[in-house]
Formats: sequence, C-alpha cells, structure tokens
Amino acid sequence: MNTSILFQGWENGASAALVFAAFEGNAPTTGVAAVDSWAAGLYASGEFTGKPNEFATLHSPAGLASKRAVLIGLGKSEKADAASLRKAGGAIVRALKAKSILDIGFVLPRSHYNRDAAQALFEGAVAGDFEPDQHKSKKDAKHVEHFTVFAPGAPSELAEAARDGAVIGESQNFARALVNEPGNILTPLVMAERARAMAQAHGLDCDVLDEDRMRQLGMGSLLGVAQGSAAPPALIVLTYTPAEAKEGVHLAIVGKGVTFDTGGISIKPSESMEKMKYDMAGGAAAIGAMMAIAQLKPNVKVTAYIPAVENMPGSRALRPGDILTSMAGKTIEVLNTDAEGRLILIDAITYAKKQGVTHIIDAATLTGAITIALGAVNIGAFTNNEAWQSDVLAAAKQAGEKMWPLPMDDDYKDLLKSAFADMPNIGSRGAGSITAALFLKEWAEETPWVHLDIAGTAWIDEPKPHLAKGPTGVALRTFVALARRLAS
Ligand code: BES
Ligand code: ZN
Ligand code: ZN
Repeated sequence: MNTSILFQGWENGASAALVFAAFEGNAPTTGVAAVDSWAAGLYASGEFTGKPNEFATLHSPAGLASKRAVLIGLGKSEKADAASLRKAGGAIVRALKAKSILDIGFVLPRSHYNRDAAQALFEGAVAGDFEPDQHKSKKDAKHVEHFTVFAPGAPSELAEAARDGAVIGESQNFARALVNEPGNILTPLVMAERARAMAQAHGLDCDVLDEDRMRQLGMGSLLGVAQGSAAPPALIVLTYTPAEAKEGVHLAIVGKGVTFDTGGISIKPSESMEKMKYDMAGGAAAIGAMMAIAQLKPNVKVTAYIPAVENMPGSRALRPGDILTSMAGKTIEVLNTDAEGRLILIDAITYAKKQGVTHIIDAATLTGAITIALGAVNIGAFTNNEAWQSDVLAAAKQAGEKMWPLPMDDDYKDLLKSAFADMPNIGSRGAGSITAALFLKEWAEETPWVHLDIAGTAWIDEPKPHLAKGPTGVALRTFVALARRLAS
C-alpha cells in the first residue's frame, strides 16, 4: 500500500473513492453541492447518523474528480479523537477493498489537524490492509494500492506524523505475520532468523544466544522449558543505539516467545490448542517495535530481549516437581509445566538487568486468567514502580491501546509458596494473573518494571471492522510510544 499526505485541495484528486469524515448530529459540508445535498438527505432520513463505522457511497458525484464520494461515521465530534481516526482508517480500508476499491483518498477533518490524529489515521489504514493469508495459495483478499490523505493548509509537521504512522502500521503488520506463522514453520531458530534479517535491513544490532551460551550463563529456568522440544531455544537480543542517546536511560523490552505451547507434560486440552502458535505474540510485538524504533530514531537506547522456546512434552521434558535454578540463582519448583512463560521471562529479565537496563517493560501471553478478568478489551498491567507504570499508561493512551492496572499487594504472595524450592511456578487457586506477575517481580527486583499480560488481547477470534481476524500486534504501539516519551 502506497501512503501519502497532500497539503493541497482534494477537489482535483481523482481517487476511486474520496472519503469524508462524518460526525453524529450534523451532516458534513464539503463545498461540493452534489455531495452536500446527498449527505444532508441521508442525515434527514436517518439512513446515516454518523455513528462509528457507518459508511455510505455516492457514485459519480457532479463536481468531484473522484468516482465516488464516501462518508465514514466518526461518532460524536466532541468524542472523536486520534483513536477514532485510527479505527475509521482501518474500517474504510477494509470496507472498500472488499469491494475492490483500491485507490482511496481521505479528507482529514480540520478538527483533526494534529500529529497524533494524522499518525493514527495512517496506522489504522495500514493495519486495516493486513490479511493473515500468507499461507493461502489463492489469496481472496485484495490490498489497497493508494491511500492518500488530503489536508489542505495543515501544518507541515503532519507529513512526519503520516510517515511515522505508516512505519508503525507496517511494523505492526510485520509482527502480526510472525504471530500468524504456525509452530512447524516458526521454530525458535526461525524466529531468531526473521529477527536478524529485520535487524540487518534496519541497522539494528542483533545477538542470538544459543543453548551453549545460555548454559554458560546459568539460564536453567529458560533451558528447562526448552528441553522438552527437539527444536533448540534462542535468546534474541536486538539493540538500537542512537547517535545521541539520552544519558542514564536504557529501555528493555522483553517479549515472551513461546513458538508453540502444548503445555508440556501438564498438557493442554486439544480444543483450541492450535491457537497456541500465538504464544510468541509478546516477542513478535517486541521485534516489530524495534523495527519501528529503528526508523523513527528516538534519542534513547532500547534493547529487546526475546526468549524463544517451544513448550513440548518430549522425553526430556520437565516433569511436575522438577526443580530449576534460574540465572539469578533462585530455585523454582515446577508444579505445572504449562506455566512456562514466566520461566523463560525471568532469565531474560536477569540478563537484561546484567546488561544495565534502567527500565523494563515486558509483554507476554501469560495467563488464561487475564481473559477472565479483562476479556479481549484491556491488557492487564502490573508493576513494582507506580511512576514507571504511569509513564506506560500514558504511552498506551497515546497509542490507543487499552490497559488496566491490577493490584500486586504482598498479601497475594501467600499464594506462592514452595516447600522444596525458593518459589513454585504457580500459585494456588485464584488471582492467576496476579500470582504470575508476582513471580516475575521476584526477578525484576528493584529495577522499574511493568508487565503486560496480553493473552486476552493479542488475538481476535472474530474480525473487527478495522482489523482482520487473528493476531492484533497489541503492545507494539505502546512500546514505540514509550521509547519516544523516554527520549523527550
Ligand atoms: N500461554 C498460556 C496462556 C494463554 C492461555 C495464552 C490462553 C493465550 C490464551 C500460558 O503459558 C499458560 O498456559 N498459563 C496457564 C498458567 C497456569 C498453569 C497457572 C494458564 O493460564 O492456564
Ligand atoms: Zn503454558
Ligand atoms: Zn504459554
């Protein structure tokens, strides 16, 4: 998809469809009589009210060079923000490409002549164009060829915002394609190769720790999970070092990279197990965020750490009751081999700390319990440092990713007791997402750290008007916004 923003009038732009934003209450006025009277008629009859995702099409309007005029609902004008434009961009792309209309013009409403809105519109349009069809030999879905935004008289900084939005949207799609790869294709080593190729293309440093190096470092927890699979593990480390890095700040983005989670010996039921290919969505979001960061170039050092393993019940697999020694020296009694995400994350966190990172954020499809608590709407957020968490929440808000903080009081720690090792890898019944986070916290220690549980939000079973079914790429936009905030 070719994206561009033009600061000139849209009257002469000959798109296959020229899209106008329409708010609830008042019909839009474009200055083209044929379009305005059509819009006024639609509002008067109540056929179109301007609610989000509503759209209407007028063919060959007199006085317009484009073949069609299209209205897209944006909801109430006082509530329409950058997030509304992101969704509208995605929804219009999906609606029009389904009708083979592949050359789209979009008139940015003057009320949205700001960087956040312009960036969001491009993010939404690019993400809306994604289809999880990389393994279909016959592609049914079409792709938009041109998406041109018209913003006559807008400040020129919107050009940068438009580019940023396209970069972030493309990085999100890169992450989504990785998540969509099945376990037989995307093994840990293949994931590392994909990350390495991306890093080379965008000038990032890439270091992949293999089994031997991890053993030398004492990563017994990560290696314990990996030992049940014939596919060797990898710890993928991607580093972005800007020419002028802000002093004393080094952001770590840690992403769970379980390329397939069978549960191991504590095996999962077969129903929906195929979805466990998305258990590396946190890792993919971290890799995709680095792809965007490499291009947006914020003045802050950022390193992504992605522990990649396959959780299998092979003959060398972990048994319930096994005791592992993590890189930090703490021992863990494995009471359930399906609670593997936390086992690989803690060695990655310890390694990041050893490299001197100052702030940590992790994203992981960690617990089914987070879906019970927050559904598919909000990411669950957990922290050992309220100030750092408020930075993360602000970045998430700006990025249009919903998240909700959950408590981590010490009282919950009573649920995490092992008679035979320093810690068990699961809590007793209840508060499953919280005890998982408390487990991680023991390894984050004093370093400011936020954990995002994305098990409920990284995959959608039904398509949305603005997004295809399958991987969402969630957390990536927050990572990018956070790096940019830290730089400023
Ligand atoms: N990968 C799963 C969590 C998950 C579940 C992600 C559903 C996406 C959708 C994780 O490794 C896991 O199995 N967690 C267990 C923990 C339990 C054994 C304490 C869970 O949530 O059931
Ligand atoms: Zn599991
Ligand atoms: Zn898992």
